Amino acid sequence: MNDALAAEDAYVLPTYVKFPFALERGAGCWVWDEAGRKYLDLYGGHAVAALGHCPPEVADALERQSRRLLFYSNLVYSRARAEAAKALVEFCGENGSQVFFCNSGAEANENAMRIARMVTGRAKIVAAEGGFHGRTAAAIAATGAKYRAGLPGLGADVVHVPFGDADAAAKALDGAAAFLLEPIQSMAGAATPPPGYLAALQAACERAGALLIFDEVQTGLGRVGERSAGRAYGVRPHLQTFAKALASGVPAGAVLAVPEVARRVKPGQLGSTFGGGPLACAAIAATLKTISARRLWENAAAMEMLIRTTFRHPRLQEIRGRGLLLGLVLDGPAKPVLAALLQRGILAGGADDPSVIRLLPPLTVGPEEIAFLRTALLDSFASGAAAP
Ligand SMILES: Cc1ncc(COP(=O)(O)O)c(C=O)c1O
Repeated sequence: MNDALAAEDAYVLPTYVKFPFALERGAGCWVWDEAGRKYLDLYGGHAVAALGHCPPEVADALERQSRRLLFYSNLVYSRARAEAAKALVEFCGENGSQVFFCNSGAEANENAMRIARMVTGRAKIVAAEGGFHGRTAAAIAATGAKYRAGLPGLGADVVHVPFGDADAAAKALDGAAAFLLEPIQSMAGAATPPPGYLAALQAACERAGALLIFDEVQTGLGRVGERSAGRAYGVRPHLQTFAKALASGVPAGAVLAVPEVARRVKPGQLGSTFGGGPLACAAIAATLKTISARRLWENAAAMEMLIRTTFRHPRLQEIRGRGLLLGLVLDGPAKPVLAALLQRGILAGGADDPSVIRLLPPLTVGPEEIAFLRTALLDSFASGAAAP
C-alpha cells in the first residue's frame, strides 16, 4: 500500500477521480512520481503549467518575494501588485484597462458577473450550454447542466443558450447584464466557435446594453496561439477573466475591465483578503513577463500545426481547438486510450465529450515531446486500446 495514497484517501474528501500515484517533482514538461517514474505532462496540471513545471523565473521571484514580504492585504499599496497588474494590462495590449485580483477562476468569473450586474443594474446572465466557469455559486450557475445536476436553487438569473447560436444569444440578451462565454469550450472537448459567432455576440451585447465577458481562464495567456482567444478571433470583450496559468501554479485569478467599465467600479464594491497579495503577484509578473519575452503563443501555434500535420490515423476523426488547447476526437471512447498513454508515460486529459483526449501541455512543449506523443498514440491504437 502506498502511504501517500492511503493517507490522502483517509483524510481528504473523495471529490476527485485521481491517477493512482503521487507526484513528487516536476521540471519543464516532465513530472516524476514517488516511485521515480517519469511522465510527459500534456495535461499541464490542468492548463496551469504554461511555462512548464517549476519555471526558474517564477521560482526565483517567489523566493525573493517570500523573504521580503509574504503577505499584506489590499489595505496598503504594493509594488508587486502594481507590477502584476501592469504586466497583465500590457500582456493583453489593453492600455487603460484595470485589474481586480482574486484567487481562482471561479472567483474571477464570480466577480466579473458581479461587476456586470453592478454596472448595468440588471440581474440576468446569459451563458452557453457546455461551458465551464467554476464551482462557486454564481460560477456554477453559469456552467453547463452536467455540473449543476443535484444542486437545486442555483441560477434563477441565468439563461443558457446553445454554444454557437448567435440568434438565440441575441434574444436571450434582452434585459441581461452580460453574456459569459468560454470562447473555446475546453471541458466540453475543445469546442471552437463557428465563424463570426464571437463578433455577432459582441454586436448583440452592444445592442442590448449588456457586457461581454470572456472566460479566458484556459484560453488566455498564450495558450490558443495568440495572447488571448479574444485577440485570436478579433473580438474585444468588456471583461476578461484569468486564472490557472496566471501565476504558474500559485493560486491567483484576475478580472480585466476595459476603461469604460473600470471607471464605474467604486471602493468597497469588490474585495478579497488574499487576491493581489505580494507572493501571488510576484509569480504573476514573472509568469507574464516570461511568456511575453519568449513569445510562447508563437510556439503554441507552431506545435498545433505540427500536431495537425503529423497526427493521422483512421481512429483519429478530428482535431478540435486551437493552439495548445486541443481535443483529439476518436472514433470511440477516449478512456482506454488515456489509460494506454499513461502506461507509456504520458498524462493527458479527458473531456465531457467521452470521445475526446484533451491536450493542455506547457506552452514550452517542443517537437521531440510531440513526436513522443505521436508514437505512444499510434502504439496505443495498434495495441487495440478502445477500438469501437
Ligand atoms: C474555463 C474555466 N473557467 C473557470 C474555471 C474555474 O477555475 P478554478 O478551478 O480556478 O476556480 C475553470 C477550471 O477548470 C475553467 O476551465
